[in-house]
Amino acid sequence: MKSVLVIGGGGREHAIVDALRRSPQVEKIYCAPGNAGIGQQAINVPLKDTDVAGLLSFARENQVDLTVVGPEASLAAGIVDVFRAAGLKVFGHTKAATAIESSKEFAKRLMARYGIPTAAYEAFSDYDKALAYVSSRPFPSVLKYDGLAAGKGVVVAQNLEEARAALADMLLDHSFGEGRVVVEDYLTGPEFSFLCFVDGSRVYPMPLSQDHKRAFDGDKGPNTGGMGAYTGLPFITEADREFAYKEILCKAAEAMVSEGRPLSGVLYGGLMKTPEGIKVIEFNARFGDPETEVVLPLLESDIYDIFEAVATGREMEAPVWRSAFSLGVVLASKGYPGSYQKGFAIKNLDPVEARIVHMGTAFKDGQLVTNGGRVLMVIAEGPSIAEARGKVYREVAQIECDHLFYRHDIAHCALD
Ligand code: AMP
Ligand code: GLY
Repeated sequence: MKSVLVIGGGGREHAIVDALRRSPQVEKIYCAPGNAGIGQQAINVPLKDTDVAGLLSFARENQVDLTVVGPEASLAAGIVDVFRAAGLKVFGHTKAATAIESSKEFAKRLMARYGIPTAAYEAFSDYDKALAYVSSRPFPSVLKYDGLAAGKGVVVAQNLEEARAALADMLLDHSFGEGRVVVEDYLTGPEFSFLCFVDGSRVYPMPLSQDHKRAFDGDKGPNTGGMGAYTGLPFITEADREFAYKEILCKAAEAMVSEGRPLSGVLYGGLMKTPEGIKVIEFNARFGDPETEVVLPLLESDIYDIFEAVATGREMEAPVWRSAFSLGVVLASKGYPGSYQKGFAIKNLDPVEARIVHMGTAFKDGQLVTNGGRVLMVIAEGPSIAEARGKVYREVAQIECDHLFYRHDIAHCALD
């Protein structure tokens, strides 16, 4: 029987722990740092996800068979390189391979070199040159800070004034750090997420899903980490999916092998179906959050086998997925993604007959309380998206907490 260490402490990691719980060969699961909900299914370990030395000591001392890395910050900190050098099995990309997410400019150059469809772009470190380029292109213009910026490094500028302010913020005031800025053309169309397990040039697709980035109904309000997700996208045809798989995900995996940076974890294509075809908005080097929470419950295969195969470079059979529809709604603290208070009691979870994933919770004197921006996610399945949605919202309505809000229109692109 195996013991596994999962790194991270959000909804994504709760979904990973939950999937590992279903593996017949997994006996013990540790999660660092975990959260209140994860602690009911695994042993929380009070170590930060970027404390590479501390995590390595823990894995060694507890004879962990396999470590699974959730967050991009841990990957970018080189945790996989360190664990591998120490002879430990680990699922996740090396630091060099994580550049596909951690450097927007690296990703754009890769796509240009290997003919992977994406928006036209230029990269700049000089404010005046960037401004001159932006002025020469049509608006809106998309400005992306070239580094990890916790989802806040992208600005869609509607006019020259907005572009000037954003470029000054990124290139003169260095609000996110010393990185350059990628300026790219604005694309339109529905966005979707294509996650795959990747081991070198072997690419195993997961069901397609769609996130909801804006805070409020009707895709209004500020950008968030994601307010809900679902699988089964009626606007993506089988031909679209084939194209995205072959011409984007497989090509990117091959390209990374050619660059001497083979992938060995999850490759997440953030894609858009534009009038000119499917194009890449971004790549991520990890499971998406909240997509993982709706995708992994559909996995029929043993996830430990998948993680272990990818971590060791062993060829495996393609994972098997159930064909049901899965949908999840995020409950967030009022005020999120701006400032919000924590520590409010959450009640009446027991009668909820749906999967509950914890994103930011804690126990205070034995009572479950809010402890983050995104707090809980409620997920259900059904034979159609409409039925999955109906079920989720019936269950969400039972949860008692005046300090949470949620969107009422998850999957509106598919249903309305
Ligand atoms: P990213 O962090 O690169 O995923 O960007 C965040 C969000 O900005 C995306 O989910 C899109 O909604 C939007 N976005 C990014 N790039 C573009 C683009 N080239 N055209 C239109 N919207 C974009
Ligand atoms: N769902 C967006 C992300 O994981 O980056």
